[in-house]
Amino acid sequence: MIAVAIDGPAGAGKSTIAKKASEQLGFIYVDTGAIYRAVALACIDRNISIDDLDSVEGLISGLDIRIIFFNGEQHILLNDTDVSERIREENVSMAASRVSAIPQVRSFLLDLQRDFAKRDNVIMDGRDIGTVVLPNAQVKIFLTASPEVRARRRLLQLEEKGVKADFDKILFDIVQRDFNDTNRKTAPLKPAENSITVDTTDMTLDEAVGKIVGIIKEQTI
Ligand code: DC
Repeated sequence: MIAVAIDGPAGAGKSTIAKKASEQLGFIYVDTGAIYRAVALACIDRNISIDDLDSVEGLISGLDIRIIFFNGEQHILLNDTDVSERIREENVSMAASRVSAIPQVRSFLLDLQRDFAKRDNVIMDGRDIGTVVLPNAQVKIFLTASPEVRARRRLLQLEEKGVKADFDKILFDIVQRDFNDTNRKTAPLKPAENSITVDTTDMTLDEAVGKIVGIIKEQTI
């Protein structure tokens, strides 16, 4: 099996790029952020404060989170309900960043993520894939871009969906999430040893996909 780990900060284009690269290579693409988002959504829906560790721990022990693939698209099931759309809401993003700092949440989700790499060739994206989840991945990429460019891309995405958004607020949230994800004690966001850093600030989507596919082919032949 071939495993490709793509880590990097929020909005660097990991999911769009990894999805296209996996289509070209015939790999399964797993977006691990979605499962942290599912835990955050469960906290929001049940009015559980993320600061209340006992309640969060009690909650996760009863959660059934599953990733399924339907027509090539990843769907996330939370206790049998498809929450793929709801986990993308803005309030879930920040809650996911906070909930992902809890070590019990991270260890609860570890096997779920590792199981994918046992069954298929995967491109898995997240924050700690190359460092913790798949430390033996054959290819490790750290994908990044400037905060301003990441915020601009997010704004465009939201505008395309007809959602009104404010650039400064998006930029503020991105910087805040970078801080949370980089400074947490457990599995912080950082480039894995022997990872290749790809900065997409000045790249188009196609250029970034071409670069990633090129690296994967080079490293796995
Ligand atoms: O990739 P994303 O923005 O959908 O991820 C949401 C949050 O989940 C992110 O702020 C940090 C956390 N996360 C993580 O800690 N580890 C991962 N492997 C993936 C996501």
